[in-house]
Amino acid sequence: MEESHTRIDTALDAAQVVPASQGGADGISQPAGPPVVPGPYAGGGGPRSARIIAVVNQKGGVGKTTTVISLGAALAEHDQSVLLVDFDPQGGCALGLGIEPGGLDLSVYNALLDRHCQVEEVVLKTNVDNLELLPSNIDLSAAELMLVQEVAREQTLMRVLAPLRVNYDFILIDCPPSLGLLTINALTAADGVIVPLECEYYALRGMGLLMDSIERIRERLNPRLQIDGILATMFDNRTLHGREVLERVEEAFGQWLFDTKIRKTIRFAEAPVAGEPILTYAPTSPGAVAYRKLAQEVMDRVATRQSARS
Ligand SMILES: Nc1ncnc2c1ncn2[C@@H]1O[C@H](COP(=O)(O)OP(=O)(O)O)[C@@H](O)[C@H]1O
Ligand SMILES: [Mg+2]
Repeated sequence: MEESHTRIDTALDAAQVVPASQGGADGISQPAGPPVVPGPYAGGGGPRSARIIAVVNQKGGVGKTTTVISLGAALAEHDQSVLLVDFDPQGGCALGLGIEPGGLDLSVYNALLDRHCQVEEVVLKTNVDNLELLPSNIDLSAAELMLVQEVAREQTLMRVLAPLRVNYDFILIDCPPSLGLLTINALTAADGVIVPLECEYYALRGMGLLMDSIERIRERLNPRLQIDGILATMFDNRTLHGREVLERVEEAFGQWLFDTKIRKTIRFAEAPVAGEPILTYAPTSPGAVAYRKLAQEVMDRVATRQSARS
C-alpha cells in the first residue's frame, strides 16, 4: 500500500511539465482546452461525443478486464457504439475477444508514441457488432518509461483519443493494476471512473488510496473527472461472509455503488478461453444478465448527469 502511494506521488510529482511560474498550478500541466461535454449519442444524426470511462483499481484480479469486455459488449447490445481501449500490457481485452495480442502489427503503444501513426489505423473490429478495440500488448510496458520524456506526458492518451470521440458513444479504458503513469493517463483522458471492487475480506483495503488518487487527479489534471460508480464483483450471496462483506462495502460506498452486483461464477473464467464476451458465450447466464443491467444503469446515470448540465 505504502509502495503504491509512493508510486502515484512520484508520478504526479514527476508530471511537472509546466513550471508554476508559467501558469501550471502547482507546477503540474493543466488539461488542454475546454472540456468536451461528454455523454452517449442521443440519436438524431448529430455528431457523437463519447463518454470516456476508465475502469480502475490498482489491485489485480478484481474484474477490471472482465468488466470492460462485458460492459462494452452489453452497451453494444443496447445499440451503443463502443470502443475498448486496452491500457494494460497484458493484452487481456484482445485475448478475451479472441485476438492474439502478440501477433499485432500496431498497438496502442504506436498510437501513443509514434508521431506518424494515426490512431484510426490501430483500431480493430471485433466479432461483436458495435464493439471495436484499441489493442495493447507487451510493448505498452515500455511506454511508461518512454512517456516520461514526452511533453505533457500525462495527457498523451487524452490527445490520442480526442479524434475518436466523434465515432463512439462510449470509450472504456482497461487500466493496469497500478497507479503509475499509464493509469494517470487514463484518468486524465476520462470523464468518469468505474471501480470494480472484489467482495472479499480485504475489499476495502487500498480504496482510500484509490479515492485519494482520483481526487488528486481531478484537482491537478482533470476537473471533468467524475465517479460513475463502484461495482461489487465476485459477490457470493450464498455465504454469510459474502453478505457481510457487501454490507461493509454498502456502508462505506453506498452513494456510488451500482444496484447491479456481479456474482461469482466460473462462466467468467470460461468466456475468455472461448475468445468471446460472456454476453455471447453464455447469453442467458446470470453474469450476462447482470452486465446488461449494469449497462442500463451506466446509460441512465450518464443521461441524468447530462440533463443536469443542460
Ligand atoms: N464475477 C466473477 N466471478 C468469477 N470469476 C471472475 C469474475 N470476474 C472475473 N473473474 C475471473 O477472475 C480473474 C481476474 O479477472 P480480471 O477481469 O482479469 O481482473 P483484473 O483485470 O482486475 O486483473 C479472471 O480469471 C476472470 O475470468
Ligand atoms: Mg486486467
